[in-house]
Amino acid sequence: MSVEVLCPTSADTMAVGRRLAGLIWAGDVVLIDGELGVGKTTFVAGLAEGLGVEEPITSPTFILMRTYPGLLPLTHADVYRLDTLAEIEDLELTEASADGVLAVEWGTAIEQWMPADHLVVRLRLGDDEVRRIELVPYGNWATRPLQEVTG
Ligand SMILES: Nc1ncnc2c1ncn2[C@@H]1O[C@H](COP(=O)(O)OP(=O)(O)OP(=O)(O)O)[C@@H](O)[C@H]1O
Ligand SMILES: [Mg+2]
Repeated sequence: MSVEVLCPTSADTMAVGRRLAGLIWAGDVVLIDGELGVGKTTFVAGLAEGLGVEEPITSPTFILMRTYPGLLPLTHADVYRLDTLAEIEDLELTEASADGVLAVEWGTAIEQWMPADHLVVRLRLGDDEVRRIELVPYGNWATRPLQEVTG
């Protein structure tokens, strides 16, 4: 079952990401969706903090993909600019992150090529201009206590 959390500030978005780290297993895939500037990278920065990544997370929009060492290595990708399946395959996303965690901004665009076990993180701005984060589990994510992430 999916859960939703209100995130009035970027610190709240970071905290959701940080708490998600407590539910992460090696090989996990997290697909992050939401409009431009809604807080996708902020969420990944929180996840990185929870995974013990010491380097600051930067937007991978132009680099496309980057792996950060941590308790588990975190591979952060952004597929916004990718148009073709060949370009996506060239990144070898799941190979790059097999022993760690893969977090992909605009990731539902490639959901059909991702493992069946994955989490979708949907960020959006409500009518009240407050951001909310919805966590939607697929496969083995359905068995994890997602409500722990709501704080
Ligand atoms: N919950 C929040 N409430 C208010 N501001 C936020 C929140 N989360 C993030 N922000 C702010 O929104 C801005 C954009 O954040 P961020 O770069 O994480 O978005 P993004 O979705 O990754 O953008 P892009 O689509 O360009 O990749 C930043 O200034 C960030 O501090
Ligand atoms: Mg971003």
